[in-house]
Amino acid sequence: MSADICRYEGPSQARPVSGEDNQNAVAEGIFSRPGAGRYTPPAMSETPATVPDSSRPPTSTSTGEKPRRAVVLTGATGFLGRELLWRLITSLPSEYDIVCLVRERGESRSRGTSPPPAALSPAEAAQLAERRLQDVLDEGAPLPREDARRARVHAQPGDITRPRLGLDEAAFSALSARTHEIYHGAATVRFDLPLHEARHTNVDGTREILALAQAAHAAGTLRRLHYIGTAYVAGTRRGAIREDDLDCGQTFHNTYEQTKFEAEGLVRAALRGEGGRAPLPVTIYRPSIVVGDSESGYTSSFKVMYWPLKVFARGLIPIVPASRAGIVDLVPVNFVIRAILQLGQLESSLGKTYHLAAGPERSTTIGAAIDVAADFFKVYKPLFMPIATYERWVRPLLRFVLRGKRRKALETGRIYVPYLSHGAAFDTSHTRTDLRGSGVEIPDVRQYFLTLLRYCVDSDWGRRPVGKPASPGAEPRSF
Ligand SMILES: NC(=O)c1ccc[n+]([C@@H]2O[C@H](COP(=O)([O-])OP(=O)(O)OC[C@H]3O[C@@H](n4cnc5c(N)ncnc54)[C@H](OP(=O)(O)O)[C@@H]3O)[C@@H](O)[C@H]2O)c1
Repeated sequence: MSADICRYEGPSQARPVSGEDNQNAVAEGIFSRPGAGRYTPPAMSETPATVPDSSRPPTSTSTGEKPRRAVVLTGATGFLGRELLWRLITSLPSEYDIVCLVRERGESRSRGTSPPPAALSPAEAAQLAERRLQDVLDEGAPLPREDARRARVHAQPGDITRPRLGLDEAAFSALSARTHEIYHGAATVRFDLPLHEARHTNVDGTREILALAQAAHAAGTLRRLHYIGTAYVAGTRRGAIREDDLDCGQTFHNTYEQTKFEAEGLVRAALRGEGGRAPLPVTIYRPSIVVGDSESGYTSSFKVMYWPLKVFARGLIPIVPASRAGIVDLVPVNFVIRAILQLGQLESSLGKTYHLAAGPERSTTIGAAIDVAADFFKVYKPLFMPIATYERWVRPLLRFVLRGKRRKALETGRIYVPYLSHGAAFDTSHTRTDLRGSGVEIPDVRQYFLTLLRYCVDSDWGRRPVGKPASPGAEPRSF
């Protein structure tokens, strides 16, 4: 490690979230949706999986037979998680079950007025979790339910924020004893949550997943924890951001960035074996902003970049508070998933962190992206202006004169403003080096941006189901 690499000092020091109090952001609803020893990766299989008894419960050892090996996935009902699941189904060798930790209710309902999970019996919770998982499978992996590749996918009702993930002791210990790999993607990606709420999911939740990983490691089964972080742990830093950097004294634009920074700190501490524990085998992936499939434009989620794009397409953004030179670093979901599965197979990737980002070479600028989008949606090109001028003079005036949808767009859009003038250039050296020769390459945003825009229109921003273009069974499985 070179001397100038930023050091991580632990999650205890709460950093200020820069900018105005994002707890007051008015975007409610926008982000709510939709081992031991030497590492030998589970070789990805070309042959269809065969599971002798698909009805067998995932953690059953009652018959005395050896429990089946499990790959545990969190976040399977989310944007990235479902794509990962669809790929895993067809690529994991047949001896693996895929156990998805699924909440009985999604984020919006968990925070709403519906009865708390405790009001459900275990059987009801299991049924709801299973139904949610089957919906995900129906959407993207249209294999018959009895197909062995699909039948080995099981919903484990649970919640990352609860002790032992909400499992009783026996179930937790049975699960850890057969866990070979963990893909941890569950998180809240809302920018506007109060710090304690974001921390509960992103930091406490990661701590509980680390406890599962520690238990599996102690049982001698864990080969690797794959942790999905974010490139935006860089917060307000500008210039080159290296993959080994974490704590560089940066501040953060919002509680999402801050809590993902804290969570990655916990993961790195576990990787180093701090706290008297054995070092955990971990690989960290840090995507930048993930968008739809670069070939078809397909996306199951219209969050993050899509909201401002939709408002823009309606001609509701006459002024952009940004420099035209602001960096737009996007990565398509198909690249992110293939990169995780490819890098995660390498022995040399243990302990490494990867920016799954376009990087300076393959990103674009906000000015260029807006020009393309304005031509495509046939709307006027907006005026660019420095943020300081906009915040001081223009925004107060607009607040005064605008009403209805335009006023709402003005208020909601505030949480995106920092991302319009981003000055971070995510270095992707580790990713490019370790993907070399694999056929998985970081795509250039400029090559597929129009494909994304077309999908938005074709699907009417997710309101008209156009389906997932290619089933996982039809995709190449050589990642
Ligand atoms: N999307 C991006 O542009 C992007 C960019 C960089 C990094 N990432 C990272 O990628 C990961 C996935 O992001 P995403 O965009 O797929 O988010 P998403 O669509 O909002 O999905 C989040 C997933 O986490 C689950 N989850 C949340 N809280 C949970 C809890 N307490 N217990 C169990 N599961 C819980 C959600 O389950 P429910 O369905 O029950 O709510 C959902 O499956 C996150 O770690 C995020 O930080 C995303």
